[in-house]
Amino acid sequence: MIRLPGLIDPHVHLREPGATHKEDYDSGTSVALAGGVTLVLAMPNTKPPIFDAATLDLVLDSAKAKARCDYAQFLGAGPDNGDWANHPSLPERSAGLKMYLDSTFGQLRLDDMSLWMPHFQNWPRSLPIVAHSESRSMAAAILFAAIYDRPVHIAHISLKEEVLLIKAAKERGIQVTCEVCPHHLFLTQGDIPAISHGHPGRGEVRPRLATQADVDALWANLDVIDCFATDHAPHTIEEKDSDNPPPGFPGLETILPLLLAAVGEGRLTLDDVLVRMVTNPRRIFNLPEQPETWVEVDEDAAYEIKAAESFTRCGWTPFEGWKVKGRVRKVVLRGRTAFEDGKILVEPGYGKNIRA
Ligand code: DOR
Ligand code: ZN
Repeated sequence: MIRLPGLIDPHVHLREPGATHKEDYDSGTSVALAGGVTLVLAMPNTKPPIFDAATLDLVLDSAKAKARCDYAQFLGAGPDNGDWANHPSLPERSAGLKMYLDSTFGQLRLDDMSLWMPHFQNWPRSLPIVAHSESRSMAAAILFAAIYDRPVHIAHISLKEEVLLIKAAKERGIQVTCEVCPHHLFLTQGDIPAISHGHPGRGEVRPRLATQADVDALWANLDVIDCFATDHAPHTIEEKDSDNPPPGFPGLETILPLLLAAVGEGRLTLDDVLVRMVTNPRRIFNLPEQPETWVEVDEDAAYEIKAAESFTRCGWTPFEGWKVKGRVRKVVLRGRTAFEDGKILVEPGYGKNIRA
């Protein structure tokens, strides 16, 4: 048995409000605990999106009643809510600002760079801006970080050109950090037929699965990658198999066993995982330590990933049937056993908003 600190996932979609049949603060934070994650940062591309005090209050009320692990909620950058300086208490109550600079699920895309400017100008420098940006829009986000002389965190990088540009930007002293998702480390375009089982929608995710050369470049430049994040993006299997499949993969229950299997293969060290799932996210997102919090993992337990045995409402996983090693046996969160042997043991509402 190994004992790890509680893991932090800075990028999850809990679908509240507006799509709680996919997941909500209760199911999503239960899924997190089952995966060894004790603190999640929730994205704002909900229905309605989390844009202002009213929508933030709406989701935080629900989270307060339902969450079982600790959390904070992102605000979304919209076309007309960049006057953050006039609402100083609002940013402090959020995990950070999420900006969608590229195509995504939902309506939050900011196409015109003039819409980015007030956000970079007015969002407090002490709180993170997270950019969903791919390829050239990622280069533009890094240029904004340089021009406005403030940190920016690039969500879910997936391409060789992205990791190489971030490396170069870091070498020049630009304040850029980044995260990578397990599906971009362990899957390529070539895996889509096997994921799909004849339903091409199951392979849809943004950023798309990339080439082997891209995946190889991520592994070769692990030192450039600050965080591992799931981008846990649950959609039901019926939605994924429909004519208009939404993009996104669940990931909270599979990130640790996938990474531990890679540790077992000598592709990275356990310390590499903990730096990217505890130390760095805590620093980048300015998160408090969780006292008396740890995860017990049976590192020798080999098993097959099965959607049928998971807590997520979405009912499927792109890693179905994968053989992994390392099972979360117990999670202690702030002194209480929150998960043990497949059972969630804390009630809805035990989770704390770390920005409250
Ligand atoms: O695949 C994705 N799913 N990419 C995103 O940017 C959004 C996410 C979602 O919310 O489903
Ligand atoms: Zn996302």
